[in-house]
Amino acid sequence: MLVSTKEMMAKAREGHYAVGQFNINNLEWTKAILLTAEELKSPVILGVSEGAGKYMCGYSTIVGMVNGMLENLKITVPVALHLDHGSYDAAKACIEAGFSSVMFDGSHYPIEENLAKTTELINICNEKGLSLEAEVGAIGGEEDGVVGGGECADPAECKQIADLGVTMLAAGIGNIHGKYPANWPGLRFDVLEAIKNTTGDMPLVLHGGTGIPADMIKRAIDLGVCKINVNTKCQIAFTEATRKYIEEGKDLVGKGFDPRKVLAPGVEAIKATVREKMELFGSVGKA
Ligand code: 13P
Repeated sequence: MLVSTKEMMAKAREGHYAVGQFNINNLEWTKAILLTAEELKSPVILGVSEGAGKYMCGYSTIVGMVNGMLENLKITVPVALHLDHGSYDAAKACIEAGFSSVMFDGSHYPIEENLAKTTELINICNEKGLSLEAEVGAIGGEEDGVVGGGECADPAECKQIADLGVTMLAAGIGNIHGKYPANWPGLRFDVLEAIKNTTGDMPLVLHGGTGIPADMIKRAIDLGVCKINVNTKCQIAFTEATRKYIEEGKDLVGKGFDPRKVLAPGVEAIKATVREKMELFGSVGKA
């Protein structure tokens, strides 16, 4: 059964580790992530962007697929199904469809509007026992056509949002989605520390987990990060492994053209990526 992230976040905060959110794109992705989480006895959050939601034929299709896998793959670790960077309407649609967690990204609204919309969604989530992630300050890079500039959040605004009673808070600290430019100056730990000081026990979320070096990840966890999002790294791993299969001509040998064979190396590559990140985040054995 799907669970919210509330208990996962509380345990991660107490245990000084982070739970990975891995974005899904299709059946292979979902299966690879769930099997790895089960094997490593790690809690896990499946992330769905609005674009991926459309691609997978709508939120209820995804809920059906994930619930089916939890049962048929005999998954026992805590799994949350979470909307990533959702609009207000998408958050409501996911709640309706059976997601166990949503992110409302109101970071592009004036703070008053972000506060008002976040409050409405908290009320709905509380009623249904779901978790809600809010965001302050745009996070840089590009995801599903949304471009930001590596911005940092205002700690005072973070406190305003945290005080509403959100489950977890994403705050920009110079992190970027996707590949980091060679001249990226690194995470702003001064900003993270200021946010931590104003928001207290609030579990913080670090987006853009693909290209952040291991030492910075560890320091961010020490400073209160309890959830780290990973998307691009799995995409690159999958595509590289698939390209290798084709380039080696394996699709031309025997029944190598069978899609289950073509996609198998990509699935293994996603598994290896998820394993590496879960080990780095410290969530292995924490289910
Ligand atoms: P990456 O694509 O950089 O891993 O970021 C993922 C993310 O933050 C999803 O919200």
